[in-house]
Amino acid sequence: MPMCGIVGYVGQKQALEIIVAGLRRLEYRGYDSAGVAVISEGELEVRKKAGKLANLESLLGTDPLPASTTGIGHTRWATHGGPTDSNAHPHLSEDRSVAVIHNGIIENFSELRDELTASGVLLASETDTEVVAHLLAQAIPVANGDLPEAMRRVCRRLEGAFTLVAIDRAQPDLVVAARRNSPLVVGVGQGENFLASDVAAFVDHTREALELGQDQVVAMTAHEILVTDFDGAPVEVKPFHVDWDASAAEKGGYELFMLKEIAEQPKAVADSLRGRMNKESRIQLDEMHMDEGLLRSINKVVVIACGTAANAGMVAKYAIEHWTRLPVEVELASEFRYRDPIVGPDSLVIAISQSGETMDTLMALRHAKAQGARTLAICNTVGSTIPRESDAVLYTYAGPEIAVASTKAFLTQIIAAYLVGLYLAQVRGTMFEDEIRAVFTELHGMPEKVDRVLDTTEPVRALARDLSAATSVLFLGRHVGYPVALEGALKLKELAYMHAEGFAAGELKHGPIALIEEGVPVIVVVPSPKGRAILHDKIVSNIQEVRARGAVVIAIAEEGDETIAKHADHVIRIPAVPTLMQPLVATVPLQVFACEMATARGLDVDQPRNLAKSVTVE
Ligand code: G6P
Repeated sequence: MPMCGIVGYVGQKQALEIIVAGLRRLEYRGYDSAGVAVISEGELEVRKKAGKLANLESLLGTDPLPASTTGIGHTRWATHGGPTDSNAHPHLSEDRSVAVIHNGIIENFSELRDELTASGVLLASETDTEVVAHLLAQAIPVANGDLPEAMRRVCRRLEGAFTLVAIDRAQPDLVVAARRNSPLVVGVGQGENFLASDVAAFVDHTREALELGQDQVVAMTAHEILVTDFDGAPVEVKPFHVDWDASAAEKGGYELFMLKEIAEQPKAVADSLRGRMNKESRIQLDEMHMDEGLLRSINKVVVIACGTAANAGMVAKYAIEHWTRLPVEVELASEFRYRDPIVGPDSLVIAISQSGETMDTLMALRHAKAQGARTLAICNTVGSTIPRESDAVLYTYAGPEIAVASTKAFLTQIIAAYLVGLYLAQVRGTMFEDEIRAVFTELHGMPEKVDRVLDTTEPVRALARDLSAATSVLFLGRHVGYPVALEGALKLKELAYMHAEGFAAGELKHGPIALIEEGVPVIVVVPSPKGRAILHDKIVSNIQEVRARGAVVIAIAEEGDETIAKHADHVIRIPAVPTLMQPLVATVPLQVFACEMATARGLDVDQPRNLAKSVTVE
């Protein structure tokens, strides 16, 4: 499965409670079905159910599991095989000796399935995962009962991306996992240990964790953790400390994670700026570890990312080009490596990813590296794969983002990319020191400005409720307002399941204006009249074009821009800020709009249909 939540536990406590609580934290990763397995009195006991975790919990209420201190759990986002009870994980071998959960895709699974079928094994599901359970059961006797060795043998035969976790009824105190190209972290406790796709699953119990590398197998008991490569050679793994506590992954009084995360944006922006300018007023990105000489030698920047992160990259393009005079290309990661991109040692490739696990972005990053490019990750998840595989990393400090639709990650990605732009300008001498300081000071003032936007969201909420029966909403912007329009439309699609599109306002007349008819809401991100007056004038013309054709215009415009009022049906005010800062305030009402619209339509805001927080397949 591409994008699932995985939890494993071995210790002294009741495994089931810990696993279900962990799955609750990971449900954002996938929520088509869920399941758990424990070992009790030499038998494997499995409960699994299609639908959200709540369905599994009610099943556990009517059909409880026996007490056990070892277990595994899974929440799924379906690929091979629909979201049914039988396709839910864990999967058992035919003799019920091993149970397996999986995140990723086993690419050679049909070949392996044919081989198993030919040897007389009956498969109970349509999943690629199940083949692993059978292969493992066959490998255990060959490996003289050694489960980690059996796992290594099986992994050597697998192609694709996977995190696998297995338990064996004959070894009730052991959990074994393997990792290739899919996330897996180990939580190190006292007399208990944890495995999960994300630290959020165990941060209630321990904040000490281990990063696993690619192609590694971990064997874990309550007191011991052993990591080897797929050939059995022991490997050293890097410990890390999780610097946020469990409450950061809980709703903390908010009805929705998304509302909480929208509200956290001022803090997230402030945290992402903290410590990044030193006493001498120089941008300091020490933790980025990239040689200054190398940064002086590059001749272009390429940003690769998906979804919201790509929109953040598009915003950053305007700033980085302006500050450094380096050409910046922004490319959807899924397109990048399949079009023979022109990158090499003179290119700085920046991969932006909240999760650090998005497979499209990871593959694009690897392709860039193979071409000799210098790579930098902008990422929110410490220890995830994309930063690990990049030459350098700049972390955003948004804290855990649980709602599937990205909000605070977006703002902090813009901040981080801006910091990279300023740093490049500093190193390459394309800006004066006082200019850099001035921009940094503006950035520093943004948390307070975002806070002000958050204090005045009622008008945009009311508007969302009024428009909740709309069938289509268009978003227009120019310059940095254009990616903001794309992001506004993306939020609305994701959350309200509504046709929504973002356009460069000037492009509308070249085709999309045909979409305008009486009553269509058009949300326009209006550039500051003080920034580049021409942009403001042009957008006023664009507003007139759509209004003349019946559109209902909602302008997102800065305080003090009085001319806009006579051109728009509604005006949502944002603080007046310099042009390049505007995305940080203009995006917020659009997030609120989408969230309120989805709520008004009775939809699940935190877990929209068909989506997953981080998509670990291409
Ligand atoms: C998924 C999410 C999006 C997100 C995109 C990139 O599609 O649903 O909200 O923007 O992945 O995720 P990343 O973790 O790489 O930023």
